[in-house]
Amino acid sequence: MQGSYLAIQSNAESEELLKEEIAIRFPELRPSFSAPSFLTYKFGQSLLSEKDLNKFMPVYSLKTGIFYGKVGRKQLAEKLKQLEKELNAPVFIDPASTQCTEIDILVKNQGSKLPKMNDWIAWVYVYEQKECWINVFQFLPPINNFGNISSNIPKESPSRAYLKMAQTFERLQMKKIQDPQTFLEIGCAPGGVAYFLLQEGHFVLGIDTGDMDQKLLNSPMADRLKNIRKPVQEVRKGDIEKSLQRLNVPTFEWLANDLNLPLPMAYNETMRISQYSNDLWGQLITLKTPSIESLPQLMTAIKKISQSERDFYYVQAIHLPAHKKECLLVALSKKACQILEIGAFKPYLGDN
Ligand SMILES: C[S@@+](CC[C@H](N)C(=O)[O-])C[C@H]1O[C@@H](n2cnc3c(N)ncnc32)[C@H](O)[C@@H]1O
Repeated sequence: MQGSYLAIQSNAESEELLKEEIAIRFPELRPSFSAPSFLTYKFGQSLLSEKDLNKFMPVYSLKTGIFYGKVGRKQLAEKLKQLEKELNAPVFIDPASTQCTEIDILVKNQGSKLPKMNDWIAWVYVYEQKECWINVFQFLPPINNFGNISSNIPKESPSRAYLKMAQTFERLQMKKIQDPQTFLEIGCAPGGVAYFLLQEGHFVLGIDTGDMDQKLLNSPMADRLKNIRKPVQEVRKGDIEKSLQRLNVPTFEWLANDLNLPLPMAYNETMRISQYSNDLWGQLITLKTPSIESLPQLMTAIKKISQSERDFYYVQAIHLPAHKKECLLVALSKKACQILEIGAFKPYLGDN
């Protein structure tokens, strides 16, 4: 599969960051079409193939594909058959395509069957209610994703941050982890993320200067929750060891961070605290990128963690639908990848 254009589904909240990121990281891509939440870029003189998608995958995209062609709504099914013939493989319609009757029918007809690794996905953008623009990628979870990620927040959740961890679990398929594990969360108050993790049966060791939600502290799940009430900069190994003992767990396997601190400080503190784990499975680092100025800092953080001596097996910075001007830097150990059935991956950081 080859094409001249890269098609990107964006999050309206972060479109400016997306455009700037592409200008900085992929100068060979030229802006072509731009509508709210959908953009296309022309690739220089030559053609893009599906293999290039992992390279030209912006952090701030929700979905990236190769533009295959446009067709009237009534001819969509026929054009997709032509695509299947060209690929000599079935093509799944992404339920995250624009909603319209023709697409809804095709999605319904494919039933609950889910794509497997390397299956072809077509996600369709409907232009002016008339034309279907077909974009194609190969399914490689969790590098890319199929369908819509859920955005329900239970009313008992202490904050909307619940959604960030719920969507992280969905994208990385973290429900595959069956035994309870311990998540150290830096920036845990008032406790939306903690509420999600506790509900999943995990333990939470939080660090925050702020108060946790009283209802959460009074709930039966609170015996799996401890909060170190200090600025993270003042937390030392001994503080963590003491709290782990109180939780009656040997170490923390996951380090999550949702600090509203400047990016370099949030990144450095997360990396420092992560050294206190004896068995680190992964880091889920939310990094705030409020302005275009923070992009070079983000790129530096991605580079540092990719080249870290901890030798992470999978590193990817991703943008979730719940994110506004922020992203999630994911770094997983080989052991975590084996359990989660994730292949090795490092982001493209330039040819030099
Ligand atoms: C986006 S909120 C976190 C929301 C939280 N994860 C939840 O699930 O509800 C950011 C948090 O970072 C905390 N924070 C900011 N600077 C901090 C510091 N230096 N040390 C510890 N916590 C800090 C704030 O108190 C605030 O609670």
